[in-house]
Amino acid sequence: MPLLQIEDDGFRLDGDPFRILSGGLHYFRVHPDLWADRLHKARLMGLNTVETYVPWNLHQPRPDEFRMDGGLDLPRFLDLAAAEGLHVLLRPGPYICAEWEGGGLPSWLLADPSMRLRSRDPRFLAAVDDYFGRLLPPLHDRLAPRGGPVLAVQVENEYGAYGDDTAYLEHLADSLHRHGVDVPLFTCDQPADLERGALPGVLATANFGSRSAEHLATLRTARPSGPLLSTEFWIGWFDRWGGNHIVRGAEQASQELDELLATGASVNFYMFHGGTNFGFMNGANDKHTYRPTVTSYDYDAPLDEAGDPTEKFAAFREVIGKYAPVPAEVPPPRAAKFGLEAVELTESIALLDAAPALGDAVASLRPLTMEELGQDYGFVLYETELPDAGPALLELEQVRDRAQVFVGGQPVGVLERERHENSLTFAVPWPGTVLTVLVENQGRVNYGQGIHDRKGLLGSVLLNGSPLDGWTSRPMPLTAPEDLPFGTASAAPTGPAFYRGTFDADRPADTFLHLDGWTKGSVWVNGFALGRYWSRGPQRSLYVPGPVLRAGANEVVVLELHAPGRERKVAFRDAPDLGPVED
Ligand code: GLA
Repeated sequence: MPLLQIEDDGFRLDGDPFRILSGGLHYFRVHPDLWADRLHKARLMGLNTVETYVPWNLHQPRPDEFRMDGGLDLPRFLDLAAAEGLHVLLRPGPYICAEWEGGGLPSWLLADPSMRLRSRDPRFLAAVDDYFGRLLPPLHDRLAPRGGPVLAVQVENEYGAYGDDTAYLEHLADSLHRHGVDVPLFTCDQPADLERGALPGVLATANFGSRSAEHLATLRTARPSGPLLSTEFWIGWFDRWGGNHIVRGAEQASQELDELLATGASVNFYMFHGGTNFGFMNGANDKHTYRPTVTSYDYDAPLDEAGDPTEKFAAFREVIGKYAPVPAEVPPPRAAKFGLEAVELTESIALLDAAPALGDAVASLRPLTMEELGQDYGFVLYETELPDAGPALLELEQVRDRAQVFVGGQPVGVLERERHENSLTFAVPWPGTVLTVLVENQGRVNYGQGIHDRKGLLGSVLLNGSPLDGWTSRPMPLTAPEDLPFGTASAAPTGPAFYRGTFDADRPADTFLHLDGWTKGSVWVNGFALGRYWSRGPQRSLYVPGPVLRAGANEVVVLELHAPGRERKVAFRDAPDLGPVED
């Protein structure tokens, strides 16, 4: 593969003028069996490059554990890109934002109460250097100088929106070099932050979604010569629970793209194909109010969540064709989906009954945070005994992020961080009644200072104004809920419960799981964590990648936190419901 050069008058590839036409495609948001399909379609739209972040938290789930297998086999993804003739822009973080849990920073960094993320805190830098030392050597052969597809590597991500410590960025650039990165580096920032986020001697690029000429002029002022690249040209957007589904019309987005390409600048669309925040991996924003991102990362991108080309794909392909050669081949319109109505979930087990199988309770004076428990994602179940009978006022200083409260096993209320709720009243029937608080981590904040987002119960817990001491904290990461001892009772358990059912698939294919009448929870199909659902919307269905299904018997497990549909049925349908649209 040829080498990228950064010249005063623009990019060159092995000496020839070159324009990067790239699109975002995060391998960790796409089932690995579908990577080749998505990459092929990227080339068919006229792209010569794809861009991906690298999620540190998935690759290094514990300080002494590093994974690069299955859906995390980044070398394989890069090889597939190369086989498709695509270059790659690699964005290894350490921080990636991306609406991803904690912006990609591993939650174990937060076990240290004074850790300062994205800074020159020596504990943070040591962890970053260790991560680069594990990630980068296996990628060395995939860098352009050795014939690989990786043309350039990004340092940090929009650092100017967070801090102004150039020495921190310099440390990262040095560390990338020390670990064998010998391709050009670049930074990206929103135009107003270019001063703070750029690194002398390193290509600065800008992120924006409209008014290209104006934003590129700002970039030109910051950097009087050199290539112009929009590293994130936002052609769609993400959704949050409780909002509407955000779309950006194909016509308007392609006009903006035309305006950008007419300037001669290079581009990476954010996103070409968004994919899915599978499992518990969505992030959240917190600009005074905590707002978690939904499971779908469809992003209203040219390729939809299921990898089918949209109207935007055709419109972009046409615009790109004005500026560069586009392959004659067009992708097939829409792949057939798997459909099956009324899959009954006949087995169940109440979450409180299943608790011993879900994690070991740890006794302590105060409730422990998820990070203190060495847990990354999922739920913590807290329990204590209430000393006195009578009216009670419970105050939880910080709920992160959503607490379901039970007295004597009966639900008495919910406290949500998003709604700034901290207290609840109830009646205690007799001394020694058990108080249970089930706390969901709804996704760590991925933007701004709020990334120091520890989970569970933080701060004081007061009962009628006095500290409530003597707790057990039980981590429930829910890594294998299908192994629980399910039973076949005909009545639905009260409160949070797991439900299981089986179904046959004659021809496995992509599909969308609809949970009509269910309230809030998470779903697994054949052990694959599809993500969270919530009747609150906007999203009302979950994408099921075809490779997750098997010909013959399949299993679906639902954790429902409140109430299941009366008939306890789910359905697989051929279309998603991403909710009411907001332009
Ligand atoms: C910023 C970040 C991206 C992403 C987008 C919004 O530009 O750099 O990671 O969060 O915002 O989707």
